[in-house]
Amino acid sequence: MVGIKLEDVSLIYPVYGADARSLKTTMLHFATGGRIDRDSSRISVEALKGISLELTKGDRLALIGHNGAGKSTLLKVLAQIYEPTHGKVDVSGRVNSLFDIMLGMDQELNAFENIRLRGIILGLSKSEIAQLIPKVAEFAELGDFMKIPIKTYSAGMKIRLAFGIIVNVFSEILLIDEIVSVGDAKFMKKAKDHMQNLVRASDIMVLSTHDIHLTREFCNKALWLEKGQIKQYGMLEDVLDAYQKSASFYSEVTQPISV
Ligand SMILES: Nc1ncnc2c1ncn2[C@@H]1O[C@H](COP(=O)(O)OP(=O)(O)O)[C@@H](O)[C@H]1O
Ligand SMILES: [Mg+2]
Repeated sequence: MVGIKLEDVSLIYPVYGADARSLKTTMLHFATGGRIDRDSSRISVEALKGISLELTKGDRLALIGHNGAGKSTLLKVLAQIYEPTHGKVDVSGRVNSLFDIMLGMDQELNAFENIRLRGIILGLSKSEIAQLIPKVAEFAELGDFMKIPIKTYSAGMKIRLAFGIIVNVFSEILLIDEIVSVGDAKFMKKAKDHMQNLVRASDIMVLSTHDIHLTREFCNKALWLEKGQIKQYGMLEDVLDAYQKSASFYSEVTQPISV
């Protein structure tokens, strides 16, 4: 059975190489992001605190909240890239995630080789990978660049490749972090159309975004995070309504670009 269950999950990032004495308490009060702890000389950031959540088939969750609220960290916990410091994480189902586009990519390899590599990481069989390659090539429209190392690609070209892979791999659980608008409008439209198919084909989706329109297009539930804690969780419109009326919505000034 496909499902996600988090019980009282907390995650603390240790911070190395920072000088505890240089952090001023006054500044911390206003800082966005997780809670910074200074334990004598050691510094750590509490990115998630006491998160309990259960998702089942049909749930399409939007993660919303201020920069540094813990959205990306939560996605990485769901992808089991990060082990929580405390609590239990239970994820059953095949997971496909679009976060760090360079995750599982080798700069020295060309696009074809990278598709194979990513396919292996995603747990695909040989024949699934063989079917995937032409689909990605067609989607990415990189032409002869497919044959040369991806270190020569622009950021936009890398995103085309990464998107080409994610939208052509079926998964039960789909995790997406901040879809950035890169490249031309035509490509974004194509990516969106493919995304819709992918979302339909998946059982559970979790999408972190600052784009309210995107949440309305793809999601039916929302989780509002604030300083690593659940501020509100429920049906999309209820949470969006509260979020948009809140101060943190209006104080949002920067847009992260973290695909
Ligand atoms: N690798 C890291 N090391 C230390 N702190 C981190 C790291 N990644 C994120 N953080 C901190 O954790 C908190 C949550 O970050 P993040 O999950 O990226 O938030 P969001 O995606 O909502 O913007 C922030 O305070 C951020 O500064
Ligand atoms: Mg983020």
